[in-house]
Amino acid sequence: MVALNINGRVYDVDADPEMPLLWAIRDRLNMTGTKFGCGRALCGACTVHIDGEAARSCSIMVGTVAGKQITTIEGVTGKVADAVRGAWQKLDVVQCGYCQSGQIMNAITLLSGNSKPTDADIDLSMEGNICRCGTYVRIRAAIHEAAKALT
Ligand code: FES
Ligand code: FES
Repeated sequence: MVALNINGRVYDVDADPEMPLLWAIRDRLNMTGTKFGCGRALCGACTVHIDGEAARSCSIMVGTVAGKQITTIEGVTGKVADAVRGAWQKLDVVQCGYCQSGQIMNAITLLSGNSKPTDADIDLSMEGNICRCGTYVRIRAAIHEAAKALT
C-alpha cells in the first residue's frame, strides 16, 4: 500500500512502490483525465502537478511521491487554472483532446511562474508536450489569452 495525496485527498493505493504514478492515477483510482501517450517521458500527455510543478506521471514511481501534493486535471483549481480553462474554451483549442490535459497542466505551471510569457517562453516551456493534431498555434494564443485575463 502507498498513501498518495491527490487533489487534496489521501488515497491508500494498492500498488507496488515501483508502479508508475500514471498507472495508480488511472487504473487504481479511475481518474482518466491524465493520459497515457508514450510511457517514456517524451510526450507530456501524462502531465500532473507534484508540489505545484508539472511532472510526467508515467515516469515517476509512486514510492517516490508519497507525502507530496499531487494534482491532476480533475482537481486543479485556482485563478491561473480558471484563466487557462477559460482561454482554452474561448479559443476552441481542442481538437481530438488526447494531449490537452497535459497541455493545460503544463500551461498552468508556465503561467504560475511567468505571468507574461513571450512566444519564445511559451515555445520553450511547451515544446515537450506533443499534439498530434497540431494545435500548437491555438495553444500559444490561449496562453497569451489566459495571461491577459490574469492581469
Ligand atoms: S505518457 Fe508520459 S510523457 Fe508520454
Ligand atoms: S488535440 Fe489531438 S493530440 Fe492534441
